[in-house]
Amino acid sequence: MSDKYSIGVIPGDGTGPEVVAEGVKVLESLARSCSLDLQFEEFDIGGERYLRDGSLVSNSVLKELQSKDAIYLGAIGHPDVRPGILEREILLKLRFELDLYINLRPVVLFPGVDTPLKDKGPGDIDFVVVRENSEGMYAGGGGFFKKGTPDEIAIQESVNTRKGVERCIRYAYEYCRKRGGKKQLTLCGKNNVLIYESDLWYRVFQELHDAYPDITINYQHVDALCMWMIKNPEQFDVIVTSNLFGDIITDIGAIIQGGLGIAAGANINPEGTAMFEPIGGSAPKYAGLGQINPLAAIVAAQMMLDYLGEEEAAARLLGAIRDVVKEKLTSLDAGKMGYSTNEVGNLVVSCLA
Ligand code: IPM
Ligand code: MN
Repeated sequence: MSDKYSIGVIPGDGTGPEVVAEGVKVLESLARSCSLDLQFEEFDIGGERYLRDGSLVSNSVLKELQSKDAIYLGAIGHPDVRPGILEREILLKLRFELDLYINLRPVVLFPGVDTPLKDKGPGDIDFVVVRENSEGMYAGGGGFFKKGTPDEIAIQESVNTRKGVERCIRYAYEYCRKRGGKKQLTLCGKNNVLIYESDLWYRVFQELHDAYPDITINYQHVDALCMWMIKNPEQFDVIVTSNLFGDIITDIGAIIQGGLGIAAGANINPEGTAMFEPIGGSAPKYAGLGQINPLAAIVAAQMMLDYLGEEEAAARLLGAIRDVVKEKLTSLDAGKMGYSTNEVGNLVVSCLA
């Protein structure tokens, strides 16, 4: 009997549909050879839809997505929609309403990929960022006072609940143990300035350590950590951090692993569903040209298989991705790969065989 999964697919905007199509093609090919039963259901969500009929994500759609084993997302973002609407009402709404409180972002340099870091190779860049994904600066608290006047005040609040911090840090410890790397967990904060928020994070980090004596811990300020990610990325194994710091440092992570052509992430509720996405965005400039690199979306699909517990399929897909990157592509950047979007998907499928 084959394992059966129901996957919600949100192609979204810009290049999202192109890269998701390649991901689904690869997944369907794997499903045939690994006897998996993958049922895909598409959801029309994104900027195009919003411009067409004003709808974003309704509660009934949220319910349907919640019932899926996993969600596969292309990209959300449209040049004709004012910044903030689609981000807050779609992407962040999905993260918040489905309580996808972990944002897992591996930073791995595959053999054959160029990194902008001088003298660094695949052995040096291999770590994972566990980003809190449900609160912090993203909670949206705050407001204006006397807006538009010379006396105006803008307040942006960071919300850090003990429950939220604890479940994130606990997940990071567990993940670090399971990953079986150096077994070293780094807390990234700013406790010399953010004396409330980072203090809570630091205390919870220390308290939970008692249950994980096999894991070595250390703490770094976020600004210093940005430097070290570039100077000595090999020192990291797992990094845990708050929502905004995680957002920022994972863009550094993306570029040192070869750029947005390969960087993917998972938004996870360990007790519920999870959503997998290339982290590059909708890249409107490349939409419809067949030049965008679908590998980030394919890596997201690989993470999805792993999350679903389909280890064999996930391992085969990872192998195929690594082969394509090493043996075939001239670059991971859009328009410079030496192949079209569709051809890269086909290369992955042929390397699966
Ligand atoms: C990301 C993105 C989002 C974020 C934006 C689009 C709201 O940058 O997934 O990293 O800030 O989380
Ligand atoms: Mn980001």
